[in-house]
Amino acid sequence: MSKEHATLTIEDKIYKLPIVRGTEGDKAIDIRKLRTETGYITLDSGYMNTGSCRSDITFLDGEKGILNYRGYPIEDLAEKCSFVEVAYLILIGELPTREQLNDFRALLSRFALIHEDLIHFFDHFPPQASPMSILSTMVNTLNNFYPEMSGDSDEDLMIISARLLSKIRTLAAFSYKKSVGHPLVYPRYDLSYCGNFLNMMFDKPVRPYVVHPEVVATLNKLLILHADHEQNCSTSTVRLVGSAGVNLYTSISAGISALWGPLHGGANSAVIEMLEGIRADNNDFEKYIQKAKDPNDRFRLSGFGHRVYKTFDPRATIIKRACTKTLEALQVEDPLLEIAMKLEDIVRHDDYFISRDLYPNVDFYSGIIYRAMGIPTDMFTVMFAMGRLPGWIAHWSEMMQDTDDRRIGRPRQVYEGPVQRDFVPLHERS
Ligand code: ACO
Repeated sequence: MSKEHATLTIEDKIYKLPIVRGTEGDKAIDIRKLRTETGYITLDSGYMNTGSCRSDITFLDGEKGILNYRGYPIEDLAEKCSFVEVAYLILIGELPTREQLNDFRALLSRFALIHEDLIHFFDHFPPQASPMSILSTMVNTLNNFYPEMSGDSDEDLMIISARLLSKIRTLAAFSYKKSVGHPLVYPRYDLSYCGNFLNMMFDKPVRPYVVHPEVVATLNKLLILHADHEQNCSTSTVRLVGSAGVNLYTSISAGISALWGPLHGGANSAVIEMLEGIRADNNDFEKYIQKAKDPNDRFRLSGFGHRVYKTFDPRATIIKRACTKTLEALQVEDPLLEIAMKLEDIVRHDDYFISRDLYPNVDFYSGIIYRAMGIPTDMFTVMFAMGRLPGWIAHWSEMMQDTDDRRIGRPRQVYEGPVQRDFVPLHERS
């Protein structure tokens, strides 16, 4: 522990608070003993300045637009790796050797099926059920079908991770097939992680699906870009729920629910709805820009802004490039791409957005790519959840293995309600 400290003066008393530094220069004031020593807590709604843990998984610098998984820049990983390789890296901490990768792939194949009894659950959701609600429910239910494991050893972690990574893909594809009333397509051992998912989504008895290498490459990239993002809302949810000692499946199910929100992962489908709205309004950009700026209107431009990135979101830069490339390769012309680019251009030249550091985030262009692949809008956030899974599992496991600093998550508050008063019996209340 470093000997550096910060000093805090409260009511003429000086307190020394230890300073913690991360490997990439992150600085933190350790306030863990603040309340016991001073009687004060810190107030930080939205956790804008609160470090909830120390972590080895992901580094991001919002001012410089840097995102590294286990020390490797996102640009390299997105360009040169498969999603399965990156999932291994995030979970285990090192890039796999060829042999380790093959073993991990074999595990993913081994766990691809889901228990047949689970399939009956799909029949009881109403036809319009949200795929995110189905996914969250089904992942929670896995706990009843598969043994609970601690993830304490690398071997254990590989098994629980492979089981969940593989089954979430099958659950996601089955929920889509059920929603359109088509027969289920089972996983195949000869296909890659992404190829298998696409085949389960789009193969039909009357029209067999041909796995397109460009689509597989783009899907790998999208999942890699979503694979982890340190203490975001859903990952913090996974950690918070897990901190009570809850099993992996239930903790991840809570993370899926958090991701669903339109301010978080739900933004990717909200972007498409917004772009379609602009199109239906004869490209009346001004109307949407004014609504977004109006402090009395709750409307926001979906796909813009980020709590941490204040210059650019490096994932958005990669996705924008992938978007034009994929649409060209698939010979898809989507009028929404033109609308999106025009909207981005307007935003980039508008003082309101410039002064608030609002740039396109990871969700702005991803939906247009998913559309080109044939994935329906209500499945976009499910795709995000599949991508984010390695990060959620790694954070859950990191927390569970932290013997020094593991405690139940339990924030405090500043109470502003009535001060203690005398109870009034019912017959005396007027
Ligand atoms: N459109 C219009 N104005 C915005 C937007 C937006 N997309 N985002 C932020 N602002 C404005 C706010 O109104 C606020 O203005 P004010 O200072 O005049 O009150 C200012 O910018 C700061 O906004 P905050 O809400 O304080 O920023 P915060 O860090 O809490 O929120 C968030 C970040 C939730 C991502 C926000 O930018 C947003 O709602 N964006 C749209 C939804 C979205 O795209 N979410 C996906 C994020 S990426 C992810 O989670 C995967």
